[in-house]
Amino acid sequence: MRAQEKILVLDFGSQYTQLIARRIREARVYSEIVDSAISVEEIRKHNPSGLVLSGGPASVHQAEAPVVDPGIFDLGLPILGVCYGLQLTTKMLGGTVKRSGSREYGHAAIEADIKNPLFEGIPACSSVWMSHADEVSELPAGFKGIASTDRVPHTAVCDAKRQIWGVQFHPEVVHTKHGKKMIRNFVRGICGCKGRWTARAYVGQAIEEIRAQVGTDNVICGLSGGVDSAVAAVLLHKAIGDQLTCIFVDNGLLRWEEARKLDVVFKKNMKMKVVMVDAADHFLTHLKDVTEPEKKRKVIGHEFITIFRNAAKSIPNVKFLAQGTLYPDVIESSGIGKHAEVIKSHHNVGGLPKELGFKLVEPLRMLFKDEVRALGKELGMDDDMIWRQPFPGPGLAVRVLGAITKEKCDLLRLADKIVVEEIKAAGWYRKIWQSFAVLLPVQSVGVMGDGRTYEATIALRAVHSSDGMTADWVQLPHKILARISTRITNEVRGINRVVYDITSKPPSTIEWE
Ligand code: XMP
Repeated sequence: MRAQEKILVLDFGSQYTQLIARRIREARVYSEIVDSAISVEEIRKHNPSGLVLSGGPASVHQAEAPVVDPGIFDLGLPILGVCYGLQLTTKMLGGTVKRSGSREYGHAAIEADIKNPLFEGIPACSSVWMSHADEVSELPAGFKGIASTDRVPHTAVCDAKRQIWGVQFHPEVVHTKHGKKMIRNFVRGICGCKGRWTARAYVGQAIEEIRAQVGTDNVICGLSGGVDSAVAAVLLHKAIGDQLTCIFVDNGLLRWEEARKLDVVFKKNMKMKVVMVDAADHFLTHLKDVTEPEKKRKVIGHEFITIFRNAAKSIPNVKFLAQGTLYPDVIESSGIGKHAEVIKSHHNVGGLPKELGFKLVEPLRMLFKDEVRALGKELGMDDDMIWRQPFPGPGLAVRVLGAITKEKCDLLRLADKIVVEEIKAAGWYRKIWQSFAVLLPVQSVGVMGDGRTYEATIALRAVHSSDGMTADWVQLPHKILARISTRITNEVRGINRVVYDITSKPPSTIEWE
């Protein structure tokens, strides 16, 4: 990567570490998350403009509590410690951290010294988000308090001479009213960064890097219909033109007119080379009579690889496989975050194994999702493509409960199209993580005109979530629910009942299978 302004975030396992990195980037400064055990030599190699020490679940009083290379305090780089980062800094520099019997969790009002550069431009009294047990009781030599609450005298501290700041609260979460500004003050004001990290700057840099990596070889890229692979493909196409061939496998389990839309957008409009593989029959044959959800996923994953491998063979001189891997996946698979308490489980249906034998090009691997969308916009992509809700690799197979047939998929596709249309028309589509229809294996009695019906049921699912790991069901206005219900029962033959799923995750999952 070309030399650029960079802030390193040393991770102590806080659930908010990625948020810190994102907030820094929102201030247009590139940030990277590194393990808290990083050595001073390694830090020097990054040539950062400043360091942030994240929060974390440990207490500095625990024997095994993570520490940092003490040399970081002599690097002459501005440092901001957040929560555990502050407590650790205090302890390592000779101050005292007091064990607190109770945990302070939630909003707190601080009174801050607004002459301090960290608080420039924010009101003297403001609301912050606390989540800690320990607190600083005695400051290390050279430090002074720069903010307090009625409970915690040293809520924010600094040693201006050594350029070290610390805050007990979490400026990275939205509940800290002026947190964004504080982070901006640190990276732009205190660290002196100019703010050069923009989607436009990234395009130029990424194109250079892709060309340098790929040379004159050919690249294939699997298009899934999702945002990430689409943006990766468009970026690659801009960098290497016809050296890129995209492969799109229609497994018959996709959303309404997915294949046609991709054909128009990528092949016709953007003039990209796209191999369309119609494998709907293949998948449906292999899924015949499969009802067990895990088995469905396995069959689809396996058949996808077989089909993709065959399609790839038809393209000459391919050395590289492009993937839309994002930064959160890179962080997770690199083992950073090992201090975190919750280990996430991963879905990987639709992923391709290393054994395919290609080298990887991952032009989005340092980006967060919101940056990928900004990049897509910069590349001239349609909002429709950039703002798509996530769709699971196994597609409609996990939304047609029980055995899968083409007729059931067609019926669900139409119902789902109506859901998407109405949610979009009501202006809710971008506000919701996912909103979709599920076809239940339940027949019930209804009446239509003068006749009795005995037909299937559609369940609506709409959830708010930030990463899919937990989710809350959306309290959609009744008017929208009513319209969706009326349209589905009127327009989809075979459905006479619509129900709304009002469970969150946990205890449910987002998908029904
Ligand atoms: P669950 O149903 O586990 O889903 O609450 C969480 C998020 O993951 C998506 N999902 C998948 N994505 N392959 C994927 O690429 C899969 O096998 C898969 N299963 C679930 C789901 O849509 C939700 O966003």
